[in-house]
Amino acid sequence: MASILFVCLGNICRSPLAEGVAAAFAMQNGKEVQLDSAGTGAWHIGNPPDSRSIAVAQSYGVDISRQKARQLQVTDFARFDLICAMDRQNLADIQALRAANSEASNHAEVRLLLDFAPDGIGQDVPDPYYGDGSDFLHVWTLVNQAMPSLFSALLGED
Ligand code: 4NP
Repeated sequence: MASILFVCLGNICRSPLAEGVAAAFAMQNGKEVQLDSAGTGAWHIGNPPDSRSIAVAQSYGVDISRQKARQLQVTDFARFDLICAMDRQNLADIQALRAANSEASNHAEVRLLLDFAPDGIGQDVPDPYYGDGSDFLHVWTLVNQAMPSLFSALLGED
C-alpha cells in the first residue's frame, strides 16, 4: 500500500492536521493509503496534537485527537514512499538526517507539501504555534489545497 509521512517541527500542530486531512481525503475518495506524521524535534514525543489543531479539524468533522507525537527516524526513509515536509527548514532537516546516516534508505521521496498545491511551489506551511486560531485555519486551508495533486502523484492517477 502506498504510504505518506507528514513532517513538521513539533508533530503537534501542522503535520497532525495534514495526516487528518489526508485520512479524510482518502476516505472520501475511496483511496487506501498508509498515513503517519512525525516531528524533526523531540520536545513533544508522546503528546496529543495541540488543542488548536484538534479544534480546527473538529470543526470540519475530522478527529485527530488520538494521534501521538513522535520524532522522525532514519527507518522512516525505508518505511514510507513519500515524506512531505511542511516548510523548507523541515525539508532541510529531513535531508540532513538522511545525509548523516549512511544506512538511510533511498526509498522515500522527500518533498515540500505545497509543491503539490496549485501556485504553492516552494512555499511553506507557516508554523502556527505562536499564532492564534486563524493561523491554524490557514494551515488547514493550505494543507487541503495540496491533497488532490498529492494523491494523484502518489497513486499515479490523473
Ligand atoms: P509544528 O509546530 O511544527 O507545526 O508541530 C510547533 C510545535 C511546537 C514547537 C514549534 C513548532 N515548539 O517549539 O515546541
